[in-house]
Amino acid sequence: MSAVRWGILATGGIATRFVTELPQAGNGVVTAVGSRSRDTAEAFAAKHDIPKAHGSWADLANDPEVDIIYVATPHSHHHEAALLCLRSGKPLLVEKAFTLDLAQAQDLVSVARERQLFLMEAMWTRTLPAIHKMLDLVADGAIGDVTLVDASFGLAARFEADHRLRNPLLGGGALLDLGVYPVHFAHLLLGPPRFTRAWAHLYPEGTDERTGIVLGYEDGAVASLYCGAGSDVRSASVVGTKGRIEFDYGFHNASSFTLHRDGGKEEFTAAPSSLHFQAAEAGRCLQAGLLESPMVPLQSTLDVMATLDAIRSQIGVVYPNMGREIK
Ligand SMILES: NC(=O)c1ccc[n+]([C@@H]2O[C@H](COP(=O)([O-])OP(=O)(O)OC[C@H]3O[C@@H](n4cnc5c(N)ncnc54)[C@H](OP(=O)(O)O)[C@@H]3O)[C@@H](O)[C@H]2O)c1
Repeated sequence: MSAVRWGILATGGIATRFVTELPQAGNGVVTAVGSRSRDTAEAFAAKHDIPKAHGSWADLANDPEVDIIYVATPHSHHHEAALLCLRSGKPLLVEKAFTLDLAQAQDLVSVARERQLFLMEAMWTRTLPAIHKMLDLVADGAIGDVTLVDASFGLAARFEADHRLRNPLLGGGALLDLGVYPVHFAHLLLGPPRFTRAWAHLYPEGTDERTGIVLGYEDGAVASLYCGAGSDVRSASVVGTKGRIEFDYGFHNASSFTLHRDGGKEEFTAAPSSLHFQAAEAGRCLQAGLLESPMVPLQSTLDVMATLDAIRSQIGVVYPNMGREIK
């Protein structure tokens, strides 16, 4: 397969960023965009020099000149949009949080496997060079055995009731939007947890404004995680028996970190973060005929969704449109 032909489903903030950064991947081009409205699709196509604009998700899903679709709706609609595309035979890169709950995620994974279609969560953190460098150091024993992962992702902004990050109809709340990053980060280092404890402050709408999470692991390691609005924080530490690695501001979009050990410290710098790393990885997998990415395996997505479900059940967040909806 020559350059992978991308279709973009939805035209919001992250879709704009994705089409802007995709060219750096070097193995893909955007050939079409699909929106709920033809006018919006045409405006997006004109702005980003995209050859084709579709006024429905179904038309995009059935476009023979599209090899893979990037699903960039609010998470409330990931399952519906992704299922439509898979049923039309399209491989997918689906934004985070992958779905509203584990049942929806399992549904998508089973349809993709049944139809032998590539499927990947757009958890771009897992594709960044700085994160790979950090994982290599940990695997080489640079900090000994990992005993603690501490990661926080908060935004300074406060959100109005109808905002995507607050509205239950759009999968609102800090956990699925921001908390998914610290949960994936802990999973990268420690795998699925054995124990989960969480507390949240909820908006009047019933979604979480901020959530604190403690995860416990078979080997005795602990993860201490936070996500929330009204709190500008993006730090992470990975602490081991012989040292620690610190991400100062920006672990989810890391390009550098510091290794502390033996009373000294060493700075590591990698390529600046960008969404093109995940696009390149999805394109590479498609060209190689893989059905999932070794960098963002579907099991990691399912494990993280299971942890998010466990947290949500403790903090009492329920979405009106979650669960399986086989159409
Ligand atoms: N990887 C990252 O760094 C990152 C950053 C931000 C967001 N995200 C993820 O990307 C997704 C979208 O976030 P965003 O910030 O781009 O949101 P956004 O700016 O609100 O855009 C979402 C787009 O989805 C469509 N949409 C809006 N409401 C909808 C509804 N009720 N039903 C169906 N489609 C609807 C709209 O496109 P049309 O009008 O064209 O249909 C809208 O422009 C979320 O899942 C979020 O977690 C990822």
